[in-house]
Amino acid sequence: MRDIHVVILAAGKGTRMKSALPKVLHRVAGLPMIDHVLGAAATLSPRTTTVVIGFSPDAMRAALASHPGLSVVVQEPQLGTGHALLTTEPLLRHATGTLVLLSGDVPLLSPKTLQTLVDRQTASGAAATVITAVVDQPFGYGRVIRSGQSGEQIAKIVEERDATPAEREIREINSGIYAFALDGLFDLARTLTAKTAQGEYYVTDLVARCVEHGRVVTAFTVSDPDEVRGINSRGQLAEVSRIVRNQKTAELMAAGVTIEDPATAYIDRHVTIGADTIIHPGVFLEGLTTIGAGCEIHSGVRIVDSQIGDRVTVLNHCVITDSRVADAARVGPFAHLRNEADVREQARVGNFVEIKKSSLGVGSKANHHAYLGDATIGANVNIGAGTITCNYDGVKKHRTVIEDGAFIGSDTQLVAPVTVGKGAYVGSGSTVRHNVPPGALAVSAGKQRNLEGWADKKKKKLKTEN
Ligand code: UD1
Ligand code: CA
Repeated sequence: MRDIHVVILAAGKGTRMKSALPKVLHRVAGLPMIDHVLGAAATLSPRTTTVVIGFSPDAMRAALASHPGLSVVVQEPQLGTGHALLTTEPLLRHATGTLVLLSGDVPLLSPKTLQTLVDRQTASGAAATVITAVVDQPFGYGRVIRSGQSGEQIAKIVEERDATPAEREIREINSGIYAFALDGLFDLARTLTAKTAQGEYYVTDLVARCVEHGRVVTAFTVSDPDEVRGINSRGQLAEVSRIVRNQKTAELMAAGVTIEDPATAYIDRHVTIGADTIIHPGVFLEGLTTIGAGCEIHSGVRIVDSQIGDRVTVLNHCVITDSRVADAARVGPFAHLRNEADVREQARVGNFVEIKKSSLGVGSKANHHAYLGDATIGANVNIGAGTITCNYDGVKKHRTVIEDGAFIGSDTQLVAPVTVGKGAYVGSGSTVRHNVPPGALAVSAGKQRNLEGWADKKKKKLKTEN
């Protein structure tokens, strides 16, 4: 097998995005554009992968840091795609085999298409193979000018701005994805000349250069043009995100998930969902979220990087981030689980309950208005309405421990660090500053006094004053 070297062009600013963020860092269906491209490239198991960066290099380096084994070269100034390819010459001068040139702004390319590109390039012995597509609206793309007896070769690629009216009618476009034979590639690339007033070099001109040198360039036309959609504007960003989401919801439905309204389900690419789970309209499932089987996720719920077990119900308008909810638990409506909240089997979390860095044990309940932060709560505990763990002393966070079977009365403050023992009771309205032994009752509110007739006297007094 021949070596594969991948180069990803990502140095451009993306002027048409009108953004301070480099274009390839804008998110497509929740993931930076460049991550989609890197993911597809990795499936080729290339010998090297090089990303050409330029605009906003610090932001780019930071975004690429999570991908080990990449080479990064800086193109400065950014003088076009041909110039960008040339910046990789010092790294790849002695490389042999195939160079797969990808564009950081073409994120939907499938691994299968990439593999076919490489296979065709290797089998044909051509100087280059270009992925093309036939589209209804070719505006903005380079047009493919075919040659050869039955048009199986490419003579050149003409950019929109240089195209004649007749060439603009051509609906076969250049995807910006190519496989090149490395042999002699950089010698040819060095012969490119600047095409625009800004001194830009087009990688697309390499096609004509190859042909001038008597070498063959072939096309590989993909059947699904959506795969090679390029993103130059916010409108295209939204369209491509929609394509990814449609693919995702279609896959999930095929695997037995009910999605009541796929048009309003925002489900990121890496989310997994078990069979017979029902997703109501307007649900957001993001990042590395997993959802088990037989769950029901109601409208207005957002779940990010969290694990939801089987047969879980999440009622309307919950926000769950970096958390776990175990089998048969019920959460919501209006609950907020964040930062390692861990809701165990059959537990219940009701409205206006916030849980942070805390576990709520098997079968335990916190049904109304509570803040549970930095707490370890055992099994079958009842957390009354208005319970607050006072976990922060202004400098440090402290833990609250509530053991199995304890009952915390409504409107209780638990001043951490503090432990409520197994089976203990805390009376309503208590401020718990000291540990409660197992089986004890803690009450801290003062003794109640009733002033007989007070209200009647008060009202009379007010009336005489008026
Ligand atoms: C390019 C192609 C066009 C093709 C289209 C497909 C050229 C001249 N034209 O046009 O034929 O139909 O892609 O989507 O190649 N980049 C750099 N350095 C630069 C300029 C660009 O790294 O100096 C990167 C960009 O960050 C981007 C990619 O190259 O990821 C493509 O650049 P872009 O300006 O978007 O090219 P298009 O006009 O879309
Ligand atoms: Ca582009």
